[in-house]
Amino acid sequence: MPSALPQRPHIGVPPIKCQGIKTKLVPFILSQIVWQQTSDATWIEPFLGSGVVAFNRMPHRAVLADANPHIIGFYQAIQQGKIDRAEVQKFLAEEGETLRQQGAEYYYTLRDRFNQTASPLDFLFLNRACFNGLMRFNSKGKFNVPFCHKPQRFSQSYITKISNQVGWVAQRMTGKDWKFRVADWQETLQQAKPNDYVYLDPPYIGRHADYHNRWNLEDAEKLAAIAQQLPCGFAVSMWLENRHRQNEHIQQCWSNLDIHPHQHFYHVGSHEKLRSAMTEALIIKPGYSHALE
Ligand SMILES: C[S@@+](CC[C@H](N)C(=O)[O-])C[C@H]1O[C@@H](n2cnc3c(N)ncnc32)[C@H](O)[C@@H]1O
Repeated sequence: MPSALPQRPHIGVPPIKCQGIKTKLVPFILSQIVWQQTSDATWIEPFLGSGVVAFNRMPHRAVLADANPHIIGFYQAIQQGKIDRAEVQKFLAEEGETLRQQGAEYYYTLRDRFNQTASPLDFLFLNRACFNGLMRFNSKGKFNVPFCHKPQRFSQSYITKISNQVGWVAQRMTGKDWKFRVADWQETLQQAKPNDYVYLDPPYIGRHADYHNRWNLEDAEKLAAIAQQLPCGFAVSMWLENRHRQNEHIQQCWSNLDIHPHQHFYHVGSHEKLRSAMTEALIIKPGYSHALE
């Protein structure tokens, strides 16, 4: 019997934010995917990002990979018990207080420290101190997002929320055979075997180009060609259309697969009232999804 997920499950939120994070789309994504998870089967995510899809899917066995070593290093540190909820709480309370007292200057001191040491705790701090979800590295691989001008950001409730998210992720990993890997997507896909399932969430073509996150039409076409040769089931997240245009790449490279559309709204800038509609697609290998409506 294919394993379907329960209706409208509670969606957990991971501590790391990134461009293209799928938190709001997780119920849709997981409800479309059909995968019979045998004991030797592996969930494979070559573009892990925040990890929100895998952490909510909760496979027994997984290969969770990303080209960004800081994302993977952060989750490895949690998995190895080097970072836990209590330590994060203490760290954010101390660093948040110094930020409150010293403002932007301290943000840049901490950013320099991170760019020298690559500490996972500093990474978390910067990820949550800068504008939420912005993760960008310069041509030398150095984190270069400017300060968000909110020195009061680390309130008690914000710190508790982030610490709880770390605790949640740690608890999700416990007892699971999950391998976190720094790898290019092509290397990760080479491991796929017939019973596995691959979830692909590549960056948007031509957007967010930085040291760890570059993606152009050539990459996208190569991914389409290689994915369609996979020996197992797979699903790909991609934008399908917005008010202005359609994603022609889908027509060109993925049109012979099952395309599951889902409309959602996102806020434009910081203005709550400006909402824009976007239709996302989950492109699924035939035979690995629930019937299209
Ligand atoms: C759209 S995000 C994934 C978002 C994720 N599904 C989530 O919900 O948080 C794309 C990810 O691909 C990673 N990435 C970019 N180029 C890559 C490559 N060549 N190989 C592997 N990962 C790559 C980026 O670092 C980024 O984390």
